[in-house]
Amino acid sequence: MTDISLSNSARDLWEKDRAHLMHPWSNLAAAKDEGSLIIAKGSGVHIEDAEGKRYLDAVGGLWCTNIGLGRNEMAEAIAEQVRTLAYCNPFVDIGSAPAAELAARIAQVAPGSINRVIFTTGGSSANETAFRIINFYNRTRGKPEKRHILVRRQSYHGSTLLTSSLTGKDQIPEFEYLRDFIHFLSAPNPYRAPDGMDEAAFGDYLIDEFQAKIDDIGAENVAAFFAEPIQGAGGVIVAPEGYLKRAWEICRKNDILFVADEVVTGFGRLGHWFASLSEFGIQPDIIASAKGLTAGYLPLGACLYTDELHEAMLQGSLEGFFGHGYTYGAHPVSCVAGLKVMEILEREAIFDHVNDVGPYFMKRLHSLDGLPIVGNVRGKKLMGGVEFVQNRATKALFPEELNIGKQVANKAEALGLMVRPIVHLNIMSPALTISRDEIDFVVDTLGASIKAVADDLVRDGVKVD
Ligand SMILES: Cc1ncc(COP(=O)(O)O)c(C=O)c1O
Repeated sequence: MTDISLSNSARDLWEKDRAHLMHPWSNLAAAKDEGSLIIAKGSGVHIEDAEGKRYLDAVGGLWCTNIGLGRNEMAEAIAEQVRTLAYCNPFVDIGSAPAAELAARIAQVAPGSINRVIFTTGGSSANETAFRIINFYNRTRGKPEKRHILVRRQSYHGSTLLTSSLTGKDQIPEFEYLRDFIHFLSAPNPYRAPDGMDEAAFGDYLIDEFQAKIDDIGAENVAAFFAEPIQGAGGVIVAPEGYLKRAWEICRKNDILFVADEVVTGFGRLGHWFASLSEFGIQPDIIASAKGLTAGYLPLGACLYTDELHEAMLQGSLEGFFGHGYTYGAHPVSCVAGLKVMEILEREAIFDHVNDVGPYFMKRLHSLDGLPIVGNVRGKKLMGGVEFVQNRATKALFPEELNIGKQVANKAEALGLMVRPIVHLNIMSPALTISRDEIDFVVDTLGASIKAVADDLVRDGVKVD
């Protein structure tokens, strides 16, 4: 029995949360009025709120509960490590068995010569670490001017000062961002391609733009391209076929490092340890990872990089002193969670399952194509998104204040389904263990929610074409 007392009263929790807890990415005014839904339990793909209402969590926590919630063997492995060694200083020349084992295990499954691991606290710090490596590497080899970074609109790389600056979503006016060395390219979203361009022509357009941007900055000044293999939080954007590989080839030709931000796509979401090579045929220099690495059981991120980068960095001044890292990077309990997750992914052949049910999820999701207000259904395997539009012919969006994604998500929530609203989108990334029946529930419930919102809009006199 625990001595920590948690209130059982849903109302009491709601009030405490509203009065004291600032949620990440919350809208302060709405949070003040509406508060938050308090989740009390989770098992498999389901979660339960403090009032006992059950939901199928098609968001998978936040792209992370890959092996499903509530597994006893995770609890046991974590508890055992807490008893054995709850914390270990990871700095300089001290380490722990779980950290060493997990680094070696990741190196086995990472593509090519990516054999080096720096553990971090999450995805933002993994991308921060990638940037530090790039910096260190280029300065070590006498190229301090090689510091410019290419990113794409609608990318999401994190929430620190640097990673929010690398992020290509709308910048928030009250925040300051780094600007002088960060360059944005078009979002590779075929649905929003310039008028009349088919997917192949759009791919060419993006590659021309990529090359032109490098020429403009000067290849000698461009350090890296940060790219999510599929842009997640920007709206599950699957780039035109072949585009990622062509961009990677240009990077190689121009001595530009390719950073694959696989915080979402790694550890099984696309049916592989990492999507870069297995799904897109590219060999990155650096991979940022987090989320699925511990399947949400504990916080952990990892920045993985090649032996070649490591060898070059050894030549740095002060004996290659890499003065970077975090107190809770390589946390032994998180690393044990990572090892257990990798064991479960393999033992239960979860990637095979993803490769089986992923296409089924896509097929079922496309049954929403003809519904009113549905402009575009997209995704791959267990990453799915639906974009809502006011006019399906012109692809015009609803006014932002209608908060259309949230309206649909609210209807779904009432029907026991969690999807993630992002402005005019709903996005989904369920636990990888989701069954076909559960996928049917997700799609049928989402369809019913969309129809209900479309009916409400018509009833309220909003034009829907
Ligand atoms: C692609 C990608 N990179 C980085 C991050 C940031 O990770 P974290 O929130 O763990 O810092 C996220 C989070 O959603 C992400 O989706």
